[in-house]
Amino acid sequence: MNTLRGRHFVSLMDYTREELVSIFSLATRLKAELKANHPHRLLEGKTLAMIFEKPSTRTRISFETGIYQLGGTGLYLSRNDLQLGRGETIPDTARVLSRYVDCIMARTYAHKTITDLATYSSVPVINGLTDYLHPCQALTDYFTMQEEFGPIAGRKLCYLGDGSNNMVHSLLVGAAIFGVSISIGTPEKYRPAEEILAWTRKHGAETGARVEIVHDATAAVKDADVLYTDVWMSMGQEEDREAKFALLQPFQINAALLSKAAPKAIVLHCLPAHRGEELASEVMDGPQSRVFDQAENRLHVQKALMVKLLAE
Ligand code: CP
Ligand code: NVA
Repeated sequence: MNTLRGRHFVSLMDYTREELVSIFSLATRLKAELKANHPHRLLEGKTLAMIFEKPSTRTRISFETGIYQLGGTGLYLSRNDLQLGRGETIPDTARVLSRYVDCIMARTYAHKTITDLATYSSVPVINGLTDYLHPCQALTDYFTMQEEFGPIAGRKLCYLGDGSNNMVHSLLVGAAIFGVSISIGTPEKYRPAEEILAWTRKHGAETGARVEIVHDATAAVKDADVLYTDVWMSMGQEEDREAKFALLQPFQINAALLSKAAPKAIVLHCLPAHRGEELASEVMDGPQSRVFDQAENRLHVQKALMVKLLAE
């Protein structure tokens, strides 16, 4: 039975491991079908509204081509193209869009904008990134790990860099759900939000996921199966650049640091990357990097997500 139909996808916290694994199974099938040129128009005639307050390459294009491949249509709506830009409220926008479309995906600054959209929308709302969470990306990242390693429970992911951003938060939540141990290598100043850590520790204790915040990069990467990083300056949070970069420099993923992780470790990055800052080009283009497979997987995982929320 599909327990996902009609639900919002705002945070991974709202989902069980079994539900997320059911998305992975469908994503694997859809990926194979796409590669075999086998059509799968499972959302024939459905419409996805895509609201963007911030720029996007992967999220926009993977959702738009994804819904198209499933037989539906995507509408790209920048905030300023909507009456939102002239003061129409989020609740009213959600109510109106729900009368026209089958699903809403939104990328916003404030997390509350997404939760308000979800409260007032009668169709599923998908979080395409907020300042606080990026669940579509983290879901894809655990799928990419599963493709590489098979079952991922008991593996270790090490995130290095700005430990306070949306990516870290969603990776932490996912780690607890999937039973993946996680170390965050970050300066004291850039710790994750305490409530996310508390949630992860509580649920991680049930699934065997250990959670560590480590201020030394070499200690953080020890025995890690995955090294993960993200930009040092997230969208909308571009302040204190020089001071922040100085603190984060020791957490750059480069060949020397990678050599201290597990021998078959892979490297992930949600992209866009700032080469030479959080990730050295030699690693991004090297044999242990999976960053472009990871980017591709956004398409397959989000197609599966949309099918689960809208159809199956
Ligand atoms: N990783 C990710 O969400 O990329 P975009 O900002 O290009 O959508
Ligand atoms: N943390 C980054 C992720 C980009 C996909 C940002 O919010 O800009």
